Amino acid sequence: MPPKKITHDDNFAHSVLAWFDAHGRHDLPWQQAPTPYRVWVSEIMLQQTQVGTVIPYFQRFMARFPDIAALATADTDQVLHLWTGLGYYARARNLHRTAQIVYSELGGEFPRSVDGLMTLAGIGQSTAGAIAALGMGIRAPILDGNVKRVLTRFFAIAGWPEQTTTKNRLWELAESLTPTARVADYTQAMMDLGATLCTRSKPACANCPLQLDCAAYRSGDIASFPGKKPKRALPVKRVAMFVLLDENGSVLLEKRPPSGIWGSLYSLPESAETDTPEEVCGISVAGLAHTILPVIKHTFSHYHLLITPRVLKLSRPKGGVADSNDRVWYPLDHTLEIGLAAPVRKLLTGLANSLG
Ligand code: ADE
Ligand code: SF4
Repeated sequence: MPPKKITHDDNFAHSVLAWFDAHGRHDLPWQQAPTPYRVWVSEIMLQQTQVGTVIPYFQRFMARFPDIAALATADTDQVLHLWTGLGYYARARNLHRTAQIVYSELGGEFPRSVDGLMTLAGIGQSTAGAIAALGMGIRAPILDGNVKRVLTRFFAIAGWPEQTTTKNRLWELAESLTPTARVADYTQAMMDLGATLCTRSKPACANCPLQLDCAAYRSGDIASFPGKKPKRALPVKRVAMFVLLDENGSVLLEKRPPSGIWGSLYSLPESAETDTPEEVCGISVAGLAHTILPVIKHTFSHYHLLITPRVLKLSRPKGGVADSNDRVWYPLDHTLEIGLAAPVRKLLTGLANSLG
């Protein structure tokens, strides 16, 4: 028989397993006497909770509900009681309901395939893969957050891992890399590698068994992987802001309502229209010298505001009087102490400089 060809994929699993033997976790409670039931409970607990938090909960849970029959026949209240503090209680309710289905409809046996496992509440593809691999020794890929991070880095896969095309690619890689032998160890090893070495920030590449072939490491740009979720394009709103400038070098400001953007700060009178108005704040501005300044872009968390400043020079001095509590003539030398909306402050400072 010719020697078995060593493929790239075998090398990957081989390196990961050699590292696991020397440095992986071997004493987690759900690794002891693993059964589909024990692995299932642990994987549901681990879906949104760290290993260190899960361990005592898992042990109490197994002491009280050692098998599917004990869990299926318990009161929901007892199950929720042992879940108290773990959070995401829908997990516990799903767990209990699934136990009842497995117990009474499936003869107490979990389905022995990823597709079968995925028909049960609370079990997605990665959790199904983990239960199959860790609890049944069935060759099945997993792709949890840790594995996504390792694979996007190892293959320098650009793009956000949750995006469909990227995710499909990662699933294909996860599938092709999963070995036929020692699938449980390999699965645990990949999660451990992601959790302990290939961490989100400051991965310990010096200790990593994949370092020599890791594309992100070799590129020197690990921080680019995994890619970030693309920012949603923010909507754009446009306003005109009127800079009514009197001969004393003061501008008319209005106090904004207490809630909403720039709440209770002073800002320039604004209008949605870009046409020159007849009046601004009760002052006739028809026919006044009119300068349009470059658009100012101000970004809020939910939209971009494009401000067109329109400067109108008044012929008579108006400054010094506040014609109401909510309106002031604001001297451009900033001698009046009031709160200004950020882009208004910038605009007025620029204006003061350009007017000398
Ligand atoms: N996260 C999800 N499943 C895990 C497991 N089996 N071991 C450690 N962390 C995990
Ligand atoms: Fe992650 Fe570094 Fe290992 Fe690459 S070399 S898989 S970035 S820990």
